[in-house]
Amino acid sequence: MRVELPATNPLWKKLRRAQSARTRESAEAIDGLPALPTSDAARRFWSRRTWSELAAVPAVSQAVLALVREGAGLGTIGAYTTIAQDEVRHAELSQALAEALGGYDEEVPDGIEYAPRSLAAPADVPVVVWAVANGCFSETVSLALIRARHGATRHPTARLVLNETLKDEALHVRIAWQIAGELIPKLSQAQRNSLGEYGRDLTQMIGCTFGTSGLPTKVRKREDALRDETAKASLGALPAAKENAVIAKTLDEIHTRLAKLGVR
Ligand SMILES: [Fe+2]
Ligand SMILES: [Fe+2]
Repeated sequence: MRVELPATNPLWKKLRRAQSARTRESAEAIDGLPALPTSDAARRFWSRRTWSELAAVPAVSQAVLALVREGAGLGTIGAYTTIAQDEVRHAELSQALAEALGGYDEEVPDGIEYAPRSLAAPADVPVVVWAVANGCFSETVSLALIRARHGATRHPTARLVLNETLKDEALHVRIAWQIAGELIPKLSQAQRNSLGEYGRDLTQMIGCTFGTSGLPTKVRKREDALRDETAKASLGALPAAKENAVIAKTLDEIHTRLAKLGVR
């Protein structure tokens, strides 16, 4: 499914400039901000956020490997390594928040499918598939969720972490759709159909990673409670039912956008 890659463009340059302009060290970003209460639910919720951001690092790295395999230019490769660096920063910010809320959980419990280590094995998947899987699906859902959480969160320290993450993700999402818009029209209809099939698998998966709707009942109750309690304390989550509704609506929008590109 190899296609000709687009040349470096202003959006990718903007991404790299924005990052080099950042001076604040991630780990110190929340120092000196209003203290956080101790909350078992919120520290566990933000531990999950940390794992989720860390899981984006291997996903983006797979795109970097595919870009090199497919002969992309340095500007394109640079844009993606910058995204990987942003994801590390999001993980650091989330981890600092989890620590401040009572302690970061190193151990990923059973039933969580986005354990970063399991996603790090090299995969021989083409750029266009990563652009759609990681960018159009994961990043777009992530952005919608973080935006909704930011709107509902009162604690200033949690808001800062959400806001910092939000700014980067908005740019990542724009880049993902731009690359999808350039690459997908070059695919045959058969290739688009298999991309559509892959999209349906991803939709299922997102219900058990970003959302809780696809989880087995016992795990779901546990994960819902974390979100509900974190939401009640206004520390960075929405109630689980609301988060799942945001995800469902965003997935519908993604499918509509992809359908316009011939991916069904
Ligand atoms: Fe991120
Ligand atoms: Fe991202």
